Amino acid sequence: MSNIGSYEERLQGFDWSIAEQELGYTPGGRINIGWYCSDRICDLGLGQKHALLWEDAQGVAKKFTYDDLRCYSNSIAAFLQGLGIQPGERVCLFMDRVPELYIGFVAILKMGAVVQPLFSAFGDESLWTRLENAQTTAIVTQKKHLPKVRKIKDKLPYLKHIIVVDAPQTTLREGETSFNLDEAPKVDVFEVYPSTAETPSVLHYTSGTTGQPKGAQHVHYSIISQYLTAKWVLDLQADDIYWCNADPGWVTGTSYGIIGPWANGVTQAVLDSGFGTERWYAFIQKYRITVWYSAPTAIRLLMREGTEVARKYDLSSLRHLASVGEPLNAEAVIWSQEAYGLQFHDTFWQTETGCMVITNYPGMPIKPGSMGKPFPGITATVLNPRTFEPVNQVGMVGLIALRPGWPSMIRGYWNNPTGYANKFANGWYLCGDRASIDRDGYYWFVGRDDDVINTGGHLVGPFEIESALLEHPAVAESAAVAKPDPVNMEVVKAFITLKPGFEPSDDLELEIMNFIRKRLSPLAMPQEIEFSPGLPKTRSGKIMRRVLRAREFGEPVGDISTLMDE
Ligand code: PRX
Repeated sequence: MSNIGSYEERLQGFDWSIAEQELGYTPGGRINIGWYCSDRICDLGLGQKHALLWEDAQGVAKKFTYDDLRCYSNSIAAFLQGLGIQPGERVCLFMDRVPELYIGFVAILKMGAVVQPLFSAFGDESLWTRLENAQTTAIVTQKKHLPKVRKIKDKLPYLKHIIVVDAPQTTLREGETSFNLDEAPKVDVFEVYPSTAETPSVLHYTSGTTGQPKGAQHVHYSIISQYLTAKWVLDLQADDIYWCNADPGWVTGTSYGIIGPWANGVTQAVLDSGFGTERWYAFIQKYRITVWYSAPTAIRLLMREGTEVARKYDLSSLRHLASVGEPLNAEAVIWSQEAYGLQFHDTFWQTETGCMVITNYPGMPIKPGSMGKPFPGITATVLNPRTFEPVNQVGMVGLIALRPGWPSMIRGYWNNPTGYANKFANGWYLCGDRASIDRDGYYWFVGRDDDVINTGGHLVGPFEIESALLEHPAVAESAAVAKPDPVNMEVVKAFITLKPGFEPSDDLELEIMNFIRKRLSPLAMPQEIEFSPGLPKTRSGKIMRRVLRAREFGEPVGDISTLMDE
């Protein structure tokens, strides 16, 4: 029997207080995600249960019980406190998926600071933009990423502490502090910060069409949604071994790669290594993974290798599969039934929503290609893009919109009230995506409603790429747009006008690609560059990405008279 039981019954009289009661939270009282993910599970008598089964690409493995998680997170929290870091300050985690990342996340929340996880593949410029914007005071990192931090630290007046988890103090410079988890004393008693519902918790950076990335500000109350959606949608149960593929640099990796499973007291496995079909199957086999939360790009890569590879491994432990981040093609759902005897359950949500909002539930018939139905407690609709009224017509495409007010919705963008206000119309929160609803209430994704590029489930903002491109000495003008891709769904394509004295060439193309890869990330690197003598612009001189994008997708350019007036 799944945790959710009947979707229809759960909808009746649903109230988020269900989660509050299960977690023993009293409105107005204390609520600290770090405590819920560690101390509370120990208080329930599960201290000896494994919280984390960790393995890296070389096969080095470590195991942590909930009691280890409790004590080690206390150790890190006490250490950070000892450095003088105050509640409310932003502490960045900039690491590969090492145990310190997961335990550090819990620790930072326990001491009342705001945790700012950043993807470790970010180059120095992407890192700088986000640390500068958040006025981050401390960064916890690994030796391999230290050169990027050193390069930008003088441009970060608020950054006081650089903590390195895998290098002795003797190898570090002034302002850098070594912390070694293996050698750190296990701290049994730590006074957890008395956060309440609205205390800031996690700051995730996400990309929009305009401007630099925005800091999506979550609060401790978000755990109410994350706990319950993990329980009902991922169907996490006491004996599960859960595996989430996402990196905690992105919201899936924190909401469902840390908070959801640990708030439910479930054992989770982490593989600190990139994609590899056989490596992944071997991991599932070895750890007897039961619930697997993955992403369409990974599933497409697995599909490409065929069912025969899957047959070489014993994957019989799997019992529930889910996916997020991009549209999950119907073929992938059908293929997974063939390969694993189970269908992937698509889930739709965003950094801003903090939890799944439209999803397929265990026990509910899946319509392959559909994102499913709204989670109980989420009021969703699709709006007419001109009137912002619900379309109220079966199959009509409109903007996905949500009624604000569920627990894990962000409370704003860091230092950017206008950017946040622009996400609302007529009392609805606008996701920035288009979809239709069928007669059974299932949602069908159509596409994004803006210029953000979704590459392998990661959002990349065109503005950030264009700004970085302009820093290259040869580039006069640039536009970054999505280009369809069979595996990654979309990849970045850049249109570039060169400065006088520069000629298009393959070498220059490669040089510019590498320039972006190093400064921003491999995700943001254009896979293709088209040199163009000019770029389509509005009368006010704004580059019309939409025209370029329509060309890439082979779509009609449509009415550009309005764009011309922008
Ligand atoms: O465009 C939608 C797409 O990813 C966006 C959210 O990205 P991010 O904030 O980085 O969070 C990613 C993981 C929660 C959405 O606005 N997206 C997410 N899930 C789906 C999806 N597109 C289609 N189908 C999905 N299931």
